Amino acid sequence: MSSAVLEKVAGGADADGPWAVETHGLTKRFGESIAVNSVDLRIPRGCAFGYLGPNGAGKTTLIRVLLGLTRADAGTMSLLGYPVPRHRDLALARVGAIVDEPRFHGHLTGRQNLQILAAAREPAARGRISAALERVGLAHRADDRVSKYSMGMRQRLGVAACLLGDPQLLILDEPMNGLDPAGMHDMREMIHSLVAEGRTVVLSSHLLDEVERTCDAVAIVDRGKVIRQGPIAELLAGTSMEVEIDCSAPEAAQTLLVRENRGGRVTVREQGLAIALPTGTSHDAIAEMNRILVEGGISVYRLEVNQASLESWFLEVTSRLGSEE
Ligand SMILES: Nc1ncnc2c1ncn2[C@@H]1O[C@H](COP(=O)(O)OP(=O)(O)O)[C@@H](O)[C@H]1O
Ligand SMILES: [Mg+2]
Repeated sequence: MSSAVLEKVAGGADADGPWAVETHGLTKRFGESIAVNSVDLRIPRGCAFGYLGPNGAGKTTLIRVLLGLTRADAGTMSLLGYPVPRHRDLALARVGAIVDEPRFHGHLTGRQNLQILAAAREPAARGRISAALERVGLAHRADDRVSKYSMGMRQRLGVAACLLGDPQLLILDEPMNGLDPAGMHDMREMIHSLVAEGRTVVLSSHLLDEVERTCDAVAIVDRGKVIRQGPIAELLAGTSMEVEIDCSAPEAAQTLLVRENRGGRVTVREQGLAIALPTGTSHDAIAEMNRILVEGGISVYRLEVNQASLESWFLEVTSRLGSEE
């Protein structure tokens, strides 16, 4: 049976359902240790999703299980609505992945490497080579040997290889690893543009900052377990932002703000005040605090608003988890 016919039997190009990836109780053990511990993931379609956790948290192992490179010990999973392993072939026809570093033949050119990979795929893949090279910004270097490519160029060639299958879902294992800041910037832009085309990009990372900048939603994984997941904005909604104010007479300044009851916890610091406020406090409310201080005879030397980052939130969550043990 041709794959087109198989797709019809399974119900269209993609099976239904809102999730690009869904897992229930997914578990993978290596001997006594549990690398993936009863993971329930729901990755929405059409977003950039970060699988965030420190080295050794089980990110690569989860990806290998999803792709069928290693077997789960327990649990169920589906990719693009196809239950796997039952419909793995149908699912993987629409999935592109880079696990660990992408590997290429160094003595061949970027284009030749893609030609070899395309030959192993559906016939349409060959026709996508030029567009894929263009898409990742490698068209001008496509006929240079891969051994002359930088790490960033190899990563981009890896994404081009993924694009040969016109994937609905891309899974990238630590795509920022080994990249310099410019390479990270390019990779981030590329991920955004793939998502803008309606694709889903799942990336694993131990770099909090990169996930925060690149992804719409995130799952935080620690020792094999997903401890939080959801849209980044939603996860941050319960956290605070901080206003730092350098000023004269910090204690008098604190008294003024507390008396006016502008909300937030006001603490005195050496140079002035720190005020913890709910995320989303308006600029006007902060300007009002400044006015109260100035009209109360306080000199304000500096005022800075620090938004809660995913990093501070991540540290908060993990330290809270630690203290529960
Ligand atoms: N093939 C393997 N055999 C034994 N242990 C493994 C194997 N692969 C990974 N592990 C262990 O599983 C845990 C998770 O590893 P990994 O998935 O590579 O984490 P990450 O990608 O988050 O850094 C680690 O403790 C690692 O040592
Ligand atoms: Mg890894």
